[in-house]
Amino acid sequence: MSDTLDDRIAIVTGAGSGMGAATARLLSSKGLTVALVGRRAEALEAVAAELAGTAVVVPADLARREAPAEIVERVLAETGRIDVIVNNAAAFQLKPFEDFSLDDFDLHVAVNVRAPYFLVQAALPALRASPSAVVVNVSSVAAAMYRPRQTVYGLTKAALEHVTLNLAAELARDRIRVNCVRPGPAATPLHTQAVQDPEARLRELGSLVPLGRVGEPAEIARWVWHLADREAEWVTGTVVTIDGGRILGPPAVS
Ligand SMILES: NC(=O)c1ccc[n+]([C@@H]2O[C@H](COP(=O)([O-])OP(=O)(O)OC[C@H]3O[C@@H](n4cnc5c(N)ncnc54)[C@H](OP(=O)(O)O)[C@@H]3O)[C@@H](O)[C@H]2O)c1
Repeated sequence: MSDTLDDRIAIVTGAGSGMGAATARLLSSKGLTVALVGRRAEALEAVAAELAGTAVVVPADLARREAPAEIVERVLAETGRIDVIVNNAAAFQLKPFEDFSLDDFDLHVAVNVRAPYFLVQAALPALRASPSAVVVNVSSVAAAMYRPRQTVYGLTKAALEHVTLNLAAELARDRIRVNCVRPGPAATPLHTQAVQDPEARLRELGSLVPLGRVGEPAEIARWVWHLADREAEWVTGTVVTIDGGRILGPPAVS
C-alpha cells in the first residue's frame, strides 16, 4: 500500500498558516493534491507556491453558512474527487466568561463546529466514492481541561471531538474514517499574533508543559498525516493527544 502513489485529494482548512500550512506541506510531500481553504487568499497562495505537488486555492470564510457547500463544489469542479478533509481552521478569542457576546459565541460555533460538520456532509458523496476516505478534525487540550478565558473555544473543541466519535461510528459502514488530533500549545500565529512579545508568550505556555516546551506545527501535522495515511485503515474514532503532557497538569515540582 505505502509503495503506491498517494494520489488522493485533500481539503485542509486554515491552510494559510500554522498547523494547517504544515499539514498542507506534509500531505503534498506525500503526493496528495491539496485544496487550501482560509479567508486570506494571499496567505493560501504563498503556501501553495511552496508545495511539492498540485494545489487548489479556495478562499472562503467558514463563518458563512454557505461556505462548506461552496468549497466542496469548487474542489470537485477542479479535481473531480475528495478523499481527505482536515478540519483545522478555528476561531479563537480569549475572553472572560462575562465578556463573551452572542456574536462571539456564534462565531466560534460557526467556524469550529458547524463548518466542519457541514463540510463533511457536503463532501459525503465524494467521500463515499473514495477508495480511502478520511476526516481528521483538529481539536485542542482545551476540550478536556480548564484553560482561562477559553470557555467558548473549549466547548467548541469538545463538540468537535463529540462529532468525531459519532461520525466515526455512523460513517464506518461507508468505510469513511473519522479521527481527531488534540494539540497542546504550539508555536503558531494563534498565540503569537495578538501579543506584544510572542517569544515570551511561547515561553510562558511552554513552562506549563511537562516536557518543557511548546510544540511545533510540523509535530502536529505529522500526526494528522499518520491518521490520514492509508496504512491507518483500521483506525477510526480516535482522539490523539499531542501536547508534551500538558493535559496531565503543570510540570512536577522537585
Ligand atoms: N496553536 C496552538 O497552541 C493550538 C493548540 C491546540 C489546538 N489548536 C488548533 O489548531 C488549529 C490550527 O491553529 P493554529 O495554531 O495553526 O493557528 P493559526 O495559524 O492562527 O491557524 C488558524 C487558521 O484558521 C483560519 N481561519 C480562522 N477563521 C476562519 C474563518 N472564519 N474561515 C476560514 N478560515 C479561518 C485562519 O486563516 P485566515 O485568517 O486566513 O482565515 C488560520 O489559517 C486550530 O483548530 C486551533 O484551534 C492550536
